Amino acid sequence: MICENLGVNSLGHLTFAGLDTVELAEKYGTPLYVMDENRIRHNCRVYVNAMKKYFGENAGCLYASKACSFKKLYEIVGEEGFGTDVVSSGEVYTALKAGFPLENAFFHSNNKTDEDIAFAIDNGIGYFVCDNIEEVNAISEIAAEKGVTQKVLLRLTPGIDPHTYEAVNTGKVDSKFGSAIETGQGFEITKLTLGLKNIKLCGFHCHIGSQIFDSEIYIRGSEIMLEFIAKVKKELGFTAEILDLGGGYGVRYIEANPYIDIDKNIALLADFMKKTVAQLGIEMPKIYLEPGRSIVADAGITLYTAGTLKKIPGYKNYVSIDGGMADNPRYALYGSYYSVVSASRPEAECDMLCTLAGRCCESGDLIQENIRLPHDIKRGEKIAVLTTGAYNYSMSSNYNRLGKPAVIMIKDKEDFIAVKRETLEDIIRNDM
Ligand code: LLP
Repeated sequence: MICENLGVNSLGHLTFAGLDTVELAEKYGTPLYVMDENRIRHNCRVYVNAMKKYFGENAGCLYASKACSFKKLYEIVGEEGFGTDVVSSGEVYTALKAGFPLENAFFHSNNKTDEDIAFAIDNGIGYFVCDNIEEVNAISEIAAEKGVTQKVLLRLTPGIDPHTYEAVNTGKVDSKFGSAIETGQGFEITKLTLGLKNIKLCGFHCHIGSQIFDSEIYIRGSEIMLEFIAKVKKELGFTAEILDLGGGYGVRYIEANPYIDIDKNIALLADFMKKTVAQLGIEMPKIYLEPGRSIVADAGITLYTAGTLKKIPGYKNYVSIDGGMADNPRYALYGSYYSVVSASRPEAECDMLCTLAGRCCESGDLIQENIRLPHDIKRGEKIAVLTTGAYNYSMSSNYNRLGKPAVIMIKDKEDFIAVKRETLEDIIRNDM
């Protein structure tokens, strides 16, 4: 199986985090997001331990909560020693309500509204990661009105194309995110920010992209950022206390995806960065990494109930399920790969080439094409889509007025509800 928290029990059913997925589907209904708390904690510890081991105490980890955001998650990552990356008042509010210490939160996004800025400052946000100079000015003005000095980082684009899929490339010069180093805008924004009252510049941030497997990309990114830090030190006399290198480590959605050894990657990165700061004659700033996907993706699966098996002779076979692009838009948006199994009989021969189709009124509502499932999938059979812990629940919608599925969690083989299923009443709650 694609991840070690998956198995098969004596009934021949798929197990996840030690529990029978068919029983879970029957108990809570489908579609159902199922998350493995122990796996999330394990994934957090891999980062925290490696950062300590290779960078020392002056390093930290932030959970990029856009990957999956609900109260329980902030609680878990906080307990594991993570700060968090938030991108909206909604994420700030969720973290706040979870009792997450907001001084450990970094507010990203390429366009924070005045309301976002005021709300985050009022609630004691640790840092804003500023995208551009207009935004720094807006934060400065709002901080002045409130009589506070706000800590910020500047988001820079190091000009790297990580060769992952286009929609999630963010570190290129022409990206909508950040201020480019190559064009001189990165330097300009630094100079201007240093001149602002009510703003304390603490350092820099970059995020190269997502689903990256090549450790060289991070190494190259860190080199560009450290060279920039050396330049602003020399030319502006500014010492960056923090360098946040963003998120992006890839996960295995299908067998063909490589396995990433995070510990080894961080070791290589730290080794390179230590040599580079020595060469540049600067101090090592406090280093942050900001993983999202690699914390939660393999800690989640989605369970569905099969409906019709439609065979179109000479063309295609469709297995339809009771969810789709409303709970997982990633295939429709990016053509993302997933592994799919029958949860009811994961060991049955998969002798039918088919498409897993959602229930939305849209031809593009597919979860995966060209997969193999047993040829006699029956109405009522449970289907599992694996590695759905990241960017599924957080990207879900109410398209076709479908209610969002529940998120249940499993901890030490005990299951509990983390997010309730939306009811029909929830669907109309804001209708006047
Ligand atoms: N930091 C920043 C500033 C980011 O923009 C992101 C992701 C992360 C950290 C976390 O990256 P991760 O470790 O999760 O790769 N919806 C897309 C992914 C968009 C990623 C956006 N930014 C998907 O479903 O693949």
